[in-house]
Amino acid sequence: MLLIALMAALGTATATVDAPCAAPTLSGEAPMIIAHRGASGELPEHTIAAYRRAIEQGADVIEPDLVMTRDGALIVRHDRYLSTTTDVADRPEFADRRRRVFDGRGFRNDWWAEDFTLEEIKTLRAKQPRADRPADFNGQFDVPTFEEVIELAKEFGIPVYPETKAPTAHAEAGLDMEAALLAALQAAGWTTADAPVFVQSFEADILRSLNEKTDVTLVQLVYAGPSIRRPRANISLDAIVEYADGVGPSKGLVIDGQGADTGFVSEAHALGLFVHPWTVRDDQPVAPDVDVSEELNRLFDAGVDGVFVDFPQTAVEVRATYCSGT
Ligand code: G3P
Ligand code: CA
Repeated sequence: MLLIALMAALGTATATVDAPCAAPTLSGEAPMIIAHRGASGELPEHTIAAYRRAIEQGADVIEPDLVMTRDGALIVRHDRYLSTTTDVADRPEFADRRRRVFDGRGFRNDWWAEDFTLEEIKTLRAKQPRADRPADFNGQFDVPTFEEVIELAKEFGIPVYPETKAPTAHAEAGLDMEAALLAALQAAGWTTADAPVFVQSFEADILRSLNEKTDVTLVQLVYAGPSIRRPRANISLDAIVEYADGVGPSKGLVIDGQGADTGFVSEAHALGLFVHPWTVRDDQPVAPDVDVSEELNRLFDAGVDGVFVDFPQTAVEVRATYCSGT
């Protein structure tokens, strides 16, 4: 299996777990802790500081979401629009860049990454997008490029988990996200199945295309589609296994609001797909009365091969206890 080859090559999944872990993962290794946008529960998301904090806390993998600038650079942001995670709205020199765009979910009047050069983006400063999280570090950090995150990951010898955000919308803006990503992977020397990178996307087309062009590990993100009975993924596992190595489901597809295993992981594992659900948050559990430790334990019991988390320190500690069997 590609995941087993990748994990064996990296030795990552067991890096912070001394004893063998009884978690029913596909590889038999401990589930990975994937730092979702860095240690984003503590520091402004998608900043080098947030990634460093996650690595210090023992995360196995760091996750950057990718969007593009007007001059074709891959930068690390969750959204193409910039007002929620940067100080762009307070910058008079960019006031006339604000415009109304349909972003796939609706019209939004905002500042858009594809209207800025990388040099301009680098003048912005990151801020905490959530009102209920610390704003103490607002204004301190810049917006990293994908290359800068790769450089950091290489410094610490851990994998990167980039997500291509809205490749179709970028194409409509004249920006080729697939070509930029392939160039970045090539420059990093990451072209083979054991390269320390997981490429993820909600859009199947870019993953199908990448599957023809690179051997790196590919992950299809899915969410719960409309359903009368139990929630189902918006793309079937039978379709995904044709071009991807793993699946990244919303956590509600793996355990329900009561924490019960839905059987999703078993179905994926039967097809040879690893499963990395998103997103576990200390301050936003799967249900109001569910403790985050319990949520993580339920996910580990279900057999997830990794989990996206906003608070890596919590997840690393819960995993250590889980794997110790105490
Ligand atoms: O990529 C996994 C997870 O991050 C997907 O959701 O919206 O946080 O990128 P989002
Ligand atoms: Ca993501």
